[in-house]
Amino acid sequence: MKRIWIPILIVALLSAFRDDGNFFRPWPEKVYDFSNELQFKERVALGRVLFYDPILSADSTISCASCHLQYTAFAHVDHALSHGIHDSVGTRNAPALINLAWHSHFMWDGAIHHLDMQALAPISHPGEMGSSIQDVIMRINRSGKYTALFLQAFGDEKATGETMLKSISRFLSTLNSNQSRYDSVMRHETVFSPQEKRGYSLFRKHCNACHTEPLFTNYQFVDNGLPIDAKLHDYGRYAITHNPDDSLRFKVPTLRNITYSYPYMHDGRFENLSEVLAHYDHGIVIRNSTHAKLKRGIKLTSAQRVDLMAFLLTLNDKHFLFQPELGFPMK
Ligand code: HEC
Ligand code: HEC
Repeated sequence: MKRIWIPILIVALLSAFRDDGNFFRPWPEKVYDFSNELQFKERVALGRVLFYDPILSADSTISCASCHLQYTAFAHVDHALSHGIHDSVGTRNAPALINLAWHSHFMWDGAIHHLDMQALAPISHPGEMGSSIQDVIMRINRSGKYTALFLQAFGDEKATGETMLKSISRFLSTLNSNQSRYDSVMRHETVFSPQEKRGYSLFRKHCNACHTEPLFTNYQFVDNGLPIDAKLHDYGRYAITHNPDDSLRFKVPTLRNITYSYPYMHDGRFENLSEVLAHYDHGIVIRNSTHAKLKRGIKLTSAQRVDLMAFLLTLNDKHFLFQPELGFPMK
């Protein structure tokens, strides 16, 4: 009797793990889940108003949203390098802000370890918002505009550095994208077209090791073989750890909404995805830090590139890009 069951079991197991795109990949646990906080909703609402308010910058010209626009997945598409206060040009491309509650480190080099601390960096950066927490808190408390919002969110109408940073991070934790075509396929609500399915297989084979489903990043720091930019001298993770092994390693970015968040890479060097695929095909620089998986390049025929591109398009999430709750707060 038992002999009959073993082959049936093997077939059942194999079909459950078959890579045909119909196998649901569960999402990992969030790193940040604030939703149990009693005033969570009020904190998110306050953080959203602050995110869109130029009051956070020294001369009230730049808001977080100046560099992180919703309809480009909260990236900054006009510029390779971000532009901040007094027309100053930064040294890195503003990344898309997607599913941040799952990140354990922030910034291209992982300089920030906690979501609550994230807003401090741009506020006090002389080339971004050029201000300081003390000045921002003074402007907020003086404006009168925020008393009711802080009272509802924290039981005190006076803002402090802590409550301001907390409310912004609560809002950031709601920038969640999980309604793409890819997600619908994984939820068995629809199926991939034959072309998307071919693209998905190529993706699983060549890209998924770093841009890992379902978040499309493994949050590791990796050197993907970009030629060194002689002007920027950006050594990535090395600046934080001073470990020579971390030289030229940058955080793997998510590929969700990728067609909206151009230009690409930490310095915005590539305008479009064809240039990115050309890099992986024949542009990779081989050095000690280059990831082993990339040392021989990712060679794709032009038909395969089209298929892969069709798959990447399924990662676009219009719901996220136009979700009213994430946009500019109307009164
Ligand atoms: C002048 C443009 C600019 C402004 C204004 C700005 N940012 Fe950014 N943001 C950037 C750049 C550039 C980076 C990447 C910096 C780096 O890696 O060193 C970044 C990184 C981030 C990250 C990390 C994302 C990740 O995947 O690691 C978050 C979160 C973020 N910004 C939120 C904010 C918030 C909140 C504000 C407002 C308080 C803000 N930003 C204001 C340009 C800007
Ligand atoms: C070995 C790990 C690894 C593999 C494999 C890999 N990537 Fe990347 N990818 C990275 C890293 C790291 C970056 C960021 C590098 C930087 O900016 O310095 C990146 C950046 C990108 C970007 C730019 C994203 C943005 O927001 O700027 C795209 C697009 C991209 N990869 C697509 C792909 C595709 C498509 C494949 C498969 C053909 C692939 N990658 C394979 C590690 C990898």
